[in-house]
Amino acid sequence: MAQVVAPLSWGLLWLCFGVLSASEQLLEQSLNGKWRLSNSNRSLVLPAEVPGCVHSALQQQQHIQDPYFRFNDLLYQWIALDNWTYSTTFAVSTQIKVKQKVLLIFDGVDTVASVSLNGIVLGKTDNMFRRYDFSVRDQLKVGDNVLEVSFLSPVLYASERRKAHSSYVVPPECPPDVQKGECHVNFIRKEQSSFSWDWGPSFPTVGLWKGVRLEAFDILQLIQLSALPLYNHSCSQWRLQVEFLVDVVRTFNCKIELSIPELGLNQTFQTQFVQGRLNYNFTLNINQNREVKLWWPRGHGDQPSYLLKVRGFLETFLILSKESKVFFRTVELLQEPVAGSPGLSFYFRINGRPVFLKGSNWIPAHSFQDQVIPLSLRNLLQSAADANMNALRVWGGGVYEQDLFYDICDQLGIMVWQDFMFACAMYPTEEDFIQTVREEVAQQVRRLKSHPSIIIWSGNNENEAALATNWFNIPASLKPKYLKDFVTLYVDNIRQMVQEMDQSRPFLVSSPTNGAESEQEGWVAANPYDPRYGDVHFYSYVHDCWDWKAFPRTRFASEYGFQSWPSFSTLQPVSVQEDWSYSSDFTSHRQHHEDGNQQMLQQAALHFILPNSTDPLKRFTDSLYITQVMQAECVKAQTEFYRRSRSEMIEGKGHTMGALYWQLNDIWQAPSWSSIEFGGKWKMLHYFAENFFAAVLPVGFEDDDTLFIYAVSDLNHDLKLKAVVTVHSWSDLDSVCTRASDLQPVPRGSAVAIFEQSVTALLAGCGRCSRLTCLLTFHLQDEDGVQLGPTNRHFLCSPRDAQGLQRPNITAKVQQDKSGFTVTLNSAAVAPFVWLDVGNVPGRFSSNGFLMVTRNATIKFEAWCPTSVEELSRSLRVTTLMDVY
Ligand SMILES: *[C@@H]1O[C@H](CO)[C@@H](O)[C@H](O)[C@H]1NC(C)=O
Ligand SMILES: *[C@@H]1O[C@H](CO)[C@@H](O)[C@H](O)[C@H]1NC(C)=O
Ligand SMILES: *[C@@H]1O[C@H](CO)[C@@H](O)[C@H](O)[C@H]1NC(C)=O
Ligand SMILES: *[C@@H]1O[C@H](CO)[C@@H](O)[C@H](O)[C@H]1NC(C)=O
Ligand SMILES: *[C@@H]1O[C@H](CO)[C@@H](O)[C@H](O)[C@H]1NC(C)=O
Ligand SMILES: *[C@@H]1O[C@H](CO)[C@@H](O)[C@H](O)[C@H]1NC(C)=O
Ligand SMILES: *[C@@H]1O[C@H](CO)[C@@H](O)[C@H](O)[C@H]1NC(C)=O
Ligand SMILES: *[C@@H]1O[C@H](CO)[C@@H](O)[C@H](O)[C@H]1NC(C)=O
Repeated sequence: MAQVVAPLSWGLLWLCFGVLSASEQLLEQSLNGKWRLSNSNRSLVLPAEVPGCVHSALQQQQHIQDPYFRFNDLLYQWIALDNWTYSTTFAVSTQIKVKQKVLLIFDGVDTVASVSLNGIVLGKTDNMFRRYDFSVRDQLKVGDNVLEVSFLSPVLYASERRKAHSSYVVPPECPPDVQKGECHVNFIRKEQSSFSWDWGPSFPTVGLWKGVRLEAFDILQLIQLSALPLYNHSCSQWRLQVEFLVDVVRTFNCKIELSIPELGLNQTFQTQFVQGRLNYNFTLNINQNREVKLWWPRGHGDQPSYLLKVRGFLETFLILSKESKVFFRTVELLQEPVAGSPGLSFYFRINGRPVFLKGSNWIPAHSFQDQVIPLSLRNLLQSAADANMNALRVWGGGVYEQDLFYDICDQLGIMVWQDFMFACAMYPTEEDFIQTVREEVAQQVRRLKSHPSIIIWSGNNENEAALATNWFNIPASLKPKYLKDFVTLYVDNIRQMVQEMDQSRPFLVSSPTNGAESEQEGWVAANPYDPRYGDVHFYSYVHDCWDWKAFPRTRFASEYGFQSWPSFSTLQPVSVQEDWSYSSDFTSHRQHHEDGNQQMLQQAALHFILPNSTDPLKRFTDSLYITQVMQAECVKAQTEFYRRSRSEMIEGKGHTMGALYWQLNDIWQAPSWSSIEFGGKWKMLHYFAENFFAAVLPVGFEDDDTLFIYAVSDLNHDLKLKAVVTVHSWSDLDSVCTRASDLQPVPRGSAVAIFEQSVTALLAGCGRCSRLTCLLTFHLQDEDGVQLGPTNRHFLCSPRDAQGLQRPNITAKVQQDKSGFTVTLNSAAVAPFVWLDVGNVPGRFSSNGFLMVTRNATIKFEAWCPTSVEELSRSLRVTTLMDVY
């Protein structure tokens, strides 16, 4: 640290250059840690951790129980209706005080607050998604300083903003009753799902959700550095656009040195840094003859990066030093005329290669963001990767995720479809609202644009569809007003800003959208769900999900799904015995989607016998199981339909190039569309996803009586494959017969029908078989007889009608060897949907929910925390479909 004892004038500064270096010129003091927290009448005064929120602090100090326990979301509604003040006293040293400029920086304030230092109001905040900083040199004292952040109830603020907007309604006014939420969330720039959603509770948080610190400096401070590689297709050349946002104390000439040693690049720029906060751009041209290693989505290549070194000099003195990762890749979103259709194509090309997006949708991982720990973030994203996903959509009703989220996606090769945080609503367009959104957009785009994982920006979730198909019963005469607001917000502001700030990836105004066609129609298409354009969200709970004809053959499925319940071990800690029934108050309280619990059973009943044990607990756990079976089977059917539609164009529809089901993760312990339970446990669907997203996949389906098997390949080389079909009897572990197709070419990135036969003929050829007594398994083989991809299966009737199913009496033995834990299963009969559950022992199996057509099977268990053979043996439960009958 520089030993400077007296306040420095700019003139004096020059004398000191001999001791200045980049690290010395900036002093940073964290103000994180224990603060004081009080409510408005001071009936509650308690210590509170920063970063944190009021709910977390109240729970840590045992003023409240776990907010997720039973009905506590209702019990704790008062928290968000009160006003809260965070305060801290901190000492400031002379070294800080003598700096030319001192910034008080809040990385995240949730949400509406007034900030004061030593009794002087510094300013106000109104946007959770912005960083705020205040220049505080004059207000700071050497010695103790008092910092206070006074929060207004977000619920009260939203309702006051609504009242102030009296000229017309901005719907929806309130969430549906079943969500038990708060109203007017569209009037506050805050995580929209924090006022409740159809999968989540209402916990409108209040607090300093990210870090707080002082930064003191004499010359300049680098606020944001971004490095954006841009590819010039016409001359096949990369250039790197390096952007600095700096806060400069006084105008001076600076020498900037940018180097990427690994590419032999080292360039210096002379530039004038002007007093104030400004952006500076520098472009590094990369020699055409230089081979640059490209970042690829997982499954298509590696994720290499380069190190960019940035140094800034004032005269010969180092005043700035920073390193940043740089990844090279290109993204194009193609929307072009396509043979056989009046519509437009819609697919992503990464580094020139068409890529099918496989994955899911991401929601906030916790109601209280301060409780999202790096380990759980990493575990969720690794689980996505392990299920062969290559893409996630960060949905627009949550938060712009933390840096670590995107760093992990960069490393894992997970592509991110990044929404802006607007969802399922109309939004106001008052001047101050637009201004705070503009700052939010500028900050978020600057923060995130260096991440190669983000391949697209999208303006909002479902707001084009809401307007087009009139979710909110807006009278036709008023529609132009809302249309104008829509265009103002997403097109004239957000789109305009993003396109100026980031030329490295496409922008869409909404999702779902018809894309270029929506633009033609004035940004809101008559039918944004048109399968011949853009992306589609599709949900239907009443149709039989085994009937693929009910699914839209869309270009890109960015949302679809079915609910299920989490497992008993996830529910148990937040419930008591009287809750453990499918018809309990608890069970209906946790369901935020109208009729959701009934819809799950109705869909399940189409193919399965519903649990009806006389033991109430067994009946409950069996019901949880059957909803997971239903969900896994439904999403499998729909995803396989999308993957096999990759190469076909039927009646103008097809060439599907994306399948992102709703939703990956959960925000609490409740029924939802997720494939991973709150806490990280995989539902049956997530195990299924690992198979249905495999790079090479056989897909079987029937059209009338004809059985088709498609070979789907996402690989980048051509294959020659045949399908091998085995007919099994429900009543016998010895298979009945086997049929194989001829070898057929399966080009890279395609879906090809390689087996076609009438089911009647197939069964007749095997003898002893009918639709009710038999089922099929099948796999793909190359010319050397090597199996590629998972073994798949096709039921010829609903399992509820199957004849010959017996109790398999499965026995399981847990063992441990060098490679970890294994479970060896022995079965006496064909067993569908074999489910291994070790309760709350964290970890996952190598396979689960599978069809067992062999006597023996060995499954690995990957433990996420230390465990033992004894603990696993004690915890292990094996359930199969017959066990719930
Ligand atoms: C103070 O506020 C709390 C929380 O809003 C409330 O429950 C309590 O009744 C209030 N106390 C007084 C004395 O007004
Ligand atoms: C919170 O502050 C607002 C604005 O000052 C005030 O109208 C409201 O009554 C306060 N709420 C409580 C619970 O004190
Ligand atoms: C791409 O390179 C060509 C040829 O050097 C040049 O004319 C063009 O302006 C470049 N395009 C961009 C976007 O920089
Ligand atoms: C870049 O070049 C300058 C001189 O041209 C040299 O002083 C500097 O060390 C180089 N930087 C790196 C990182 O190689
Ligand atoms: C720097 O580049 C960004 C992104 O292209 C652009 O938005 C900004 O206006 C540029 N700033 C300057 C000072 O040229
Ligand atoms: C469940 O069992 C009860 C008697 O144990 C019977 O009355 C009822 O009809 C059964 N329900 C179903 C759906 O099978
Ligand atoms: C499973 O056990 C039951 C009861 O012992 C027996 O009746 C049944 O036959 C067994 N199942 C098979 C497939 O052996
Ligand atoms: C299956 O396991 C049993 C008991 O572990 C063993 O006796 C039998 O040989 C195994 N059968 C096969 C086909 O591996």
